[in-house]
Amino acid sequence: MRVNPFKPTAGKMPPILIGRQAIIDDFSEALTNGVGAPGRIMLVTGQRGFGKTVMLTEFRRIAKAQQWEVIGETASAGLVSRLITTLAPSGMRLNQADFNPSISIPGIASASLGQAHFSAESNPLTLRNALNKRLESKKIKDGKGILITIDETQAASREDLVAIATAVQHVITDADESDVPDAKKKGVAIVFAGLPYMVNDLLDNEVTTFLRRALRRELDNVPLPDVKNAFLETVADSGKTISETDALEAARQSEGYPYMVQLVGYYMWQSAQRRGSDVITSDDVAAGFSDALLAFDDAVCAPALDGTTSAERLFLKAMAADSPNPTQVGDIAERARRSRSWVSKYRAILIKDKLIRATGHGQVEFAVPHLGQYLRSL
Ligand SMILES: Nc1ncnc2c1ncn2[C@@H]1O[C@H](COP(=O)(O)OP(=O)(O)OP(=O)(O)O)[C@@H](O)[C@H]1O
Ligand SMILES: [Mg+2]
Repeated sequence: MRVNPFKPTAGKMPPILIGRQAIIDDFSEALTNGVGAPGRIMLVTGQRGFGKTVMLTEFRRIAKAQQWEVIGETASAGLVSRLITTLAPSGMRLNQADFNPSISIPGIASASLGQAHFSAESNPLTLRNALNKRLESKKIKDGKGILITIDETQAASREDLVAIATAVQHVITDADESDVPDAKKKGVAIVFAGLPYMVNDLLDNEVTTFLRRALRRELDNVPLPDVKNAFLETVADSGKTISETDALEAARQSEGYPYMVQLVGYYMWQSAQRRGSDVITSDDVAAGFSDALLAFDDAVCAPALDGTTSAERLFLKAMAADSPNPTQVGDIAERARRSRSWVSKYRAILIKDKLIRATGHGQVEFAVPHLGQYLRSL
């Protein structure tokens, strides 16, 4: 019995991680290059389904292989206190006297600590203390450290981000105050992943200074030749075959959108399997792509429209005729038979809700892939 090798599931590691070598190198070099290497604080952004979660999983795997301790968290209420509990499980006493609340880091902690309200268990100083205690432990060898990954960062509270930024900066300066040579110093690496819009929303406040210095990487579409090669290799490993031409056609259909790559792969493979064949043909690719689109609509497009008002949908439908190209804002008033002020009102709401974005030149486009095609099919 052959097993479908493709993995169209959120957060599931794909059979081949396509087109991400450069960013993986940025990260692993940072671990080897020691305290102060830029990639030790990273900010990874990407639209839904572009592979942020699997990127973080890969980073933790790499760090573990280099004998780092790893903590994987997802931003939601209580983030900092969960980090503290993970770092300092019961039995390890956090000595309150170790804190020096007057320490401040120019531009970051001093301003924000005053405004933010921290409960005892989400206090940046507690987090700093927990990190330092953990780093002191013999389990972590010289030159190694702790990697923390935070997924869905756009959902983090400002307080939690300020606390994390402050604590990590403290830990870095604490290490500088010791006379251990840099190569032997234990360190903290932290990678935040989230939706692209958070760069504007979150970076407008004190967290800015910290995250602006982070190495920022945007996960984009993966190159089609790489997708084609991954299709060829994955299909061959699974005991089936596909021609170069068909693999390239499947890659084109996916547009290099990572989630779509897995969907197209999964359904073209399934199509051949259901015929009882080990050869994936161009018909299987075509059938696979249409099944992939249906699955994509259910998983991404339909949920994106949940909660939109009828006026918002009228606006979006007026845009759909142009997609995948952008729409002139002026055309929307005409198509929807509404006033200019109606258009500017809903334009602002939909941009805020991340369903569309402005592309300049008085144009807007869908922020969710395939949403335009989906709306046309309704
Ligand atoms: N580089 C890649 N090559 C091939 N497939 C990938 C790649 N990255 C992710 N995928 C696949 O894409 C899908 C989505 O990945 P993932 O869940 O990591 O995305 P995400 O950016 O975290 O999405 P969300 O914002 O919805 O959480 C999964 O099926 C995964 O296997
Ligand atoms: Mg994710």
